[in-house]
Amino acid sequence: MSRSAHPAGPRHADVLPEGHYTAPADDLNALDPKVWAHTVGRDADGVVTVGGIAVTQLAEEYGTPAYILDEADFRDRARAWRTAFGTDADVFYAGKAFLSRAVVRWLDEEGLNLDVCSGGELATALSAGMPAERIAFHGNNKSPEEIERAVRAGVGRIVLDSFQEIVRVAHAAESLGKRQPVQIRVTVGVEAHTHEFIATAHEDQKFGIPLADGQAAEAVRRALQLDGLDVIGIHSHIGSQIFDMSGFEVAAHRVVGLLKDVRDEHGVELAEIDLGGGLGIAYTSDDDPREPHEIAKALSEIVTRECEGARLRTPRISVEPGRAIVGPTAFTLYEVGTVKPLEGLRTYVSVDGGMSDNIRTALYDAEYSVALASRTSDAEPMLVRVVGKHCESGDIVVKDAFLPGDLAPGDLIAVPATGAYCRSMASNYNHAMRPPVVAVRDGAARVIVRRETEEDLLRLDVG
Ligand code: LLP
Repeated sequence: MSRSAHPAGPRHADVLPEGHYTAPADDLNALDPKVWAHTVGRDADGVVTVGGIAVTQLAEEYGTPAYILDEADFRDRARAWRTAFGTDADVFYAGKAFLSRAVVRWLDEEGLNLDVCSGGELATALSAGMPAERIAFHGNNKSPEEIERAVRAGVGRIVLDSFQEIVRVAHAAESLGKRQPVQIRVTVGVEAHTHEFIATAHEDQKFGIPLADGQAAEAVRRALQLDGLDVIGIHSHIGSQIFDMSGFEVAAHRVVGLLKDVRDEHGVELAEIDLGGGLGIAYTSDDDPREPHEIAKALSEIVTRECEGARLRTPRISVEPGRAIVGPTAFTLYEVGTVKPLEGLRTYVSVDGGMSDNIRTALYDAEYSVALASRTSDAEPMLVRVVGKHCESGDIVVKDAFLPGDLAPGDLIAVPATGAYCRSMASNYNHAMRPPVVAVRDGAARVIVRRETEEDLLRLDVG
């Protein structure tokens, strides 16, 4: 990231304070298609529109803050992943990124499968009619009730995460007279994040069964002996918001090594490998994510090459993108409440939401972009920090960004790329009511998750 001033210089600051920000764009009214959903643009009056509807109209009808989701974009991205991986591979959308019944229906219609990681996500998937055989069930501590429900429903696979779980799932399946397809999640010793990966010593984590010390081989050994389990493959997930494919390369190499050991020891060639999710998206113009077809090609080449080297039949590949499908499809619409210039520092812009609708900035130091959405402006750029209305100074939505210097209370601003892990990690901190998710398509908007009300809050408070 560069740190430089706009030729005109930011308002309220002769010297830019410390921070990771890029210079303001030449035109602050421009909307970089990398970070905005496909149908986002501006109308003749300069108002941001999505799916043909102006955000001013959305704010009036649904209030702010609100997550505005571009349904056509979601379907496009889901289809692009499906098409890129073709019929020889499976795409499981990771529901943890954002799940609702409408989303489940879109996935079903677009031919994607679904990864769930809790009883609640499983219930949402089943209630929206996702066929159970297209659901994968994850989690490092599934309860006996969750396991029983998943086996009874007939989920396509349960991803086993511990030795205890191998026994629990086998027991549940046997008591129901079933044989449950399972994958074993292994820890390959790779941890990957944006722009880098580390290939040592990352077995120190709660997920998966370590490969390096032989535990994973022992897990396969035990699972193969149990009548209730049908061991269909090995699972690996190496991290999130990854741009560099080399972490997947190391993971595939190690997983294929296990497949080879299993073949040599048991005479069994496991049919599937799942390489997890984690593909990165653009939160700011500095990020350069890969297209699904490039990712599909790279993963397929890596696995094929590794299997040829090990003289194994190439297994069926599956992947679990969450963020890469839903992340770019939504933005959060806020109304500006106060604008507070701090001489020599920056201007604090308070909005009507905050860390309760986007915890990612506070939790991960995540970077976001922001734009004035209810109008355009030719005012000079000012360096801002967009903050929420919560009683905490870490309540930051966008740490450093530029907005027009004439920004005023009542303006609407929009933060793009909030489709993943924002609504799904939203909280009621300070008894904030979680915002709605409004899906827009072809000039029509509809609420797919409604705004919480005071009644919702008080309903749980039974004291
Ligand atoms: N598969 C497994 C087994 C996972 O654990 C995850 C994410 C995914 C797939 C989907 O990863 P994605 O493609 O969405 O990166 N709350 C964090 C992200 C946590 C990801 C947890 N696991 C964030 O907001 O960045």
